Amino acid sequence: MFNAKKIQKVVVLGTGGTIAGTGSSALDHTAYTAGQLSVQHLLDAMPGLQDSLQGHELVCEQLAQLDSKDMGHATWQVLAQRCVHWLSQAEVDAIVITHGTDTLEESAWFLHRVLDSHKPVVLTCAMRPATALAPDGPQNLMDAMAVACDAMSRGVLAVCAGRIHSALEVQKVHPYRLDAFSSGESGPLGFVEQGTVRWRGTAPGPAVHTRTSCALTVSVAEWPWVAVMHSHAGADARQVSAWVSAGVKGLVVAGTGNGTLHQDVQTALAKAQDQGVAVRLVTRCAEGQIVGETASFQTAPRGLNAFKARISLMLELLG
Ligand code: SIN
Repeated sequence: MFNAKKIQKVVVLGTGGTIAGTGSSALDHTAYTAGQLSVQHLLDAMPGLQDSLQGHELVCEQLAQLDSKDMGHATWQVLAQRCVHWLSQAEVDAIVITHGTDTLEESAWFLHRVLDSHKPVVLTCAMRPATALAPDGPQNLMDAMAVACDAMSRGVLAVCAGRIHSALEVQKVHPYRLDAFSSGESGPLGFVEQGTVRWRGTAPGPAVHTRTSCALTVSVAEWPWVAVMHSHAGADARQVSAWVSAGVKGLVVAGTGNGTLHQDVQTALAKAQDQGVAVRLVTRCAEGQIVGETASFQTAPRGLNAFKARISLMLELLG
């Protein structure tokens, strides 16, 4: 009997961002509106798309159309639910997500924490709008397809400017240049060179972490409120009491140097902690992570930056 082999799929989920942005002048890279063109439009405009798909069929879905500065928990939940839906299908090999650069690292970390899949989920983006004279979106999307189709790819990854980053390390480090992301001291996981993926070391594996599936089902209105604050010269501890009075459930504080805090902030946070607010400490330094034990507050795990630590604490409090 003849068994037709099913064609494997790559699913592209659109969320907006500069990659889908349009401006009135091809030479202006700053005065444009993010999230204007559909993901289908972006794919239709890509020359050589079929080659990059390596025989995969493409399915695309528009999940949101926003500037990622406005990304919110409700969109994250829908995004995670759609990823779970698609990843559970045997004929789906990978997901590519088009996203704004501004909060890409947060969405990547959120998905890394809530998805239980070894199939690749590749976020990509652009620093120039689609209407720019030389947009970077089509190349980034093409590179993301190559990573999605690579047999070694696993877990949540970010692809921009020919570099592949892990959800753990990726961070936007520049407001303007095309290569706006860094993996800090670790360096990128690999590169995409003329459509070919080159991993720097062994293939990426999703790090061990707690799966927090309640984020997929619990109404976002019930997600615990976790805020981020910084310790700095002249810090005013009244912000801590204002948050506590307003009902905050967790605070991530970016401390100076090796996680030290202005004494007024230290005192206010200790009081907040006694009142039941969960406090996590990160360093505000751009590189490295807190070393050794700190006085009174738990250090966020794995050198997470403040914004990823906020997600981890929120998920932890969510249970
Ligand atoms: C956004 O994050 O949606 C706008 C900025 C960008 O994508 O570069």
